[in-house]
Amino acid sequence: MESKKESISPKLLSKLRKSLLSWFQKNKRELPFRINKNAYRIWVSEIMLQQTRVAAMLPIYETFLERFPDPRSLQNASEDEVMKYWKGLGYYSRARNLKKGAGLLVEKFSGQFPENFEDALSIPGVGSYTASAVLSIAYGKHHAVLDGNVKRVLSRLFLIEQDPLLNSTNQLLGNLALDFLNPEFPGDHNEAMMELGALVCVPIPICQSCPFAEDCEARIAGKEKEIPAAKSVDNWVDLDLHFLFLTSKDRILLLKYPGRRFFKTIYSLPFRLEGKHPYEKDPISEEFFATSRLNSNPHRAKHSITNHRIQLKLSETSEDDRTRIEEIFRKNLDVFFKWVKEEDLKEEFPSSISGKLIKLKNKTIKQPELPAGKV
Ligand code: ADE
Repeated sequence: MESKKESISPKLLSKLRKSLLSWFQKNKRELPFRINKNAYRIWVSEIMLQQTRVAAMLPIYETFLERFPDPRSLQNASEDEVMKYWKGLGYYSRARNLKKGAGLLVEKFSGQFPENFEDALSIPGVGSYTASAVLSIAYGKHHAVLDGNVKRVLSRLFLIEQDPLLNSTNQLLGNLALDFLNPEFPGDHNEAMMELGALVCVPIPICQSCPFAEDCEARIAGKEKEIPAAKSVDNWVDLDLHFLFLTSKDRILLLKYPGRRFFKTIYSLPFRLEGKHPYEKDPISEEFFATSRLNSNPHRAKHSITNHRIQLKLSETSEDDRTRIEEIFRKNLDVFFKWVKEEDLKEEFPSSISGKLIKLKNKTIKQPELPAGKV
């Protein structure tokens, strides 16, 4: 690829880098992972921020780091405990990888996040985005980050009109990000680009607040709202998740097994995928639901997980004979089960879904409306 930098004069490049940093110094949010440059804390923040917005991750980040202030404490905790502290962030494989990665830091890298790019990539869950972010921010290494926000800023600044879904577009943007990276302050430069994309160069941009306004090629061409081109694929999958409150001797049943589509690594109420969806049936939940007498709740709630638009359904059943139930799971070595108190459900099933299901369960029959006029 011909570098776009050839066409940008060194004077302009230097001006753009300077205005970006001075904008960042004045406008950056005071975030806890910006207070010091501890690589472990930055790594945790970057993993949490991968699929979660800053406002949603902040309170979880603080309590997570109070409980797991260093790689060793995270390595030594049980997976269930780590999941509880991850609750509210979703995408639990990230938490599992963090715990595994913490083990690797302790055993292989003397308890420190490595400074070398290849070593960083060997940590589970760390790809080139996270490696670049941690190494540049914590250690001042020359790596450019390219997340969705940075791609939008670069596409507008340098008028990149290609389809954002093409690999070649990604490559072009990666090269541009590296060309544009400030060699003196790569960490601040990267954070500033992400911050600009999060606060100013948003999908409907606030160009009057932008440090690049007078040089932004998209703005000069009047195309700032059209770039980047909209992604055309609609890959939403609609499905029903039917959960089961199975009570036995004042306890409810929770399951965990890796072969299912959701909640592979945490305990949840038993559930089955229903509705029109492209996934194969899970034989364990099919057998389990088929052999239980269900009392179905008429209420529904909404939820989403990645690209799934989910309708939550709930049924209840009780069973005196636990062995009949447990037999179904004992046949299968991968299935873990436990019986918990209902009041501990939110703790034991650490997803916001558990709260929604409790609400459904407690929903009383709607009162008839008052006749008109009798207020
Ligand atoms: N998104 C992910 N990491 C970020 C960071 N360090 N600053 C701003 N936005 C981010």
